Amino acid sequence: MHIFDSVAALRAQVGEWRRDGLRVGFVPTMGNLHAGHYSLIELARARADRVVASVFVNPTQFGPNEDFDRYPRTPEQDAAGLSRAGCAALFVPDVATMYPYGPAGAVRVEVPGLSEVLCGAFRPGHFAGVATIVLRLLNMVQPDVAVFGRKDLQQLQVIRRLVRDVALPVEIVAAATRREPSGLAMSSRNQYLEPDQRERAAELSRTLRFMLEAARRGEAVEAIEAIAGERLQQAGLQPDYAVLRAESALEHPLGGPAVTVPDLVALAAARIGRTRLIDNIAADEP
Ligand code: PAF
Repeated sequence: MHIFDSVAALRAQVGEWRRDGLRVGFVPTMGNLHAGHYSLIELARARADRVVASVFVNPTQFGPNEDFDRYPRTPEQDAAGLSRAGCAALFVPDVATMYPYGPAGAVRVEVPGLSEVLCGAFRPGHFAGVATIVLRLLNMVQPDVAVFGRKDLQQLQVIRRLVRDVALPVEIVAAATRREPSGLAMSSRNQYLEPDQRERAAELSRTLRFMLEAARRGEAVEAIEAIAGERLQQAGLQPDYAVLRAESALEHPLGGPAVTVPDLVALAAARIGRTRLIDNIAADEP
């Protein structure tokens, strides 16, 4: 596996693969990789001849009181894992490479509307930070296909909209969420959890399934969302939101019963101690 920290060297390698007629896949990450990330690599390998991964903990998507400083960083472990997983190249830029004018002086992109609801309402500026870095990474790597996890569904939709709106020549592919046996969605932030918190965190996915079952029975969306919030609180979680939405229109609240919404999805975000977890399950998910 080649390891690049400069855009020029990375582009030279990707250019060579493309001249040889090879399809290039890309998986951007913030490192501290777990089985969820490796499933994205596997999917990218199935869709492309050469896979590039990136590891960069992006400062612009963290709020001032968030976990940027304590975000787990495991560079050697990540590089070894990516090499074993069959990545052809790893891009590990520093802040000056990603933000030549510094994070504060960076040209920023905003996906309006969608970025301001759900997680965006609780993390102002987060999705602008995500869109800003993803646009840069896609422009630097120039892949044919890029893979993102469905666990960050709102992020996935923000990126899809960004790519479509500015006509980036890249196919965006979504990978299914990987879960612990308890149902807890895999996340680098799970390692902040104490054993008892980890047990309680599994209530997040149980509540999402409960919401979908209640929706299937034809119950009213508002009532389901209210009960879901109470369930999370009773389990010792502090919910930011627990909602039912149409996946194609995450920014629009649903009213009445949601039985007929074709792309129904339940989404929730909740805090356990200092850790904020998110999850979502679509109605057609096994
Ligand atoms: O999902 C993540 O790990 C990050 O938000 C991403 C897409 C790598 C951008 O920093």
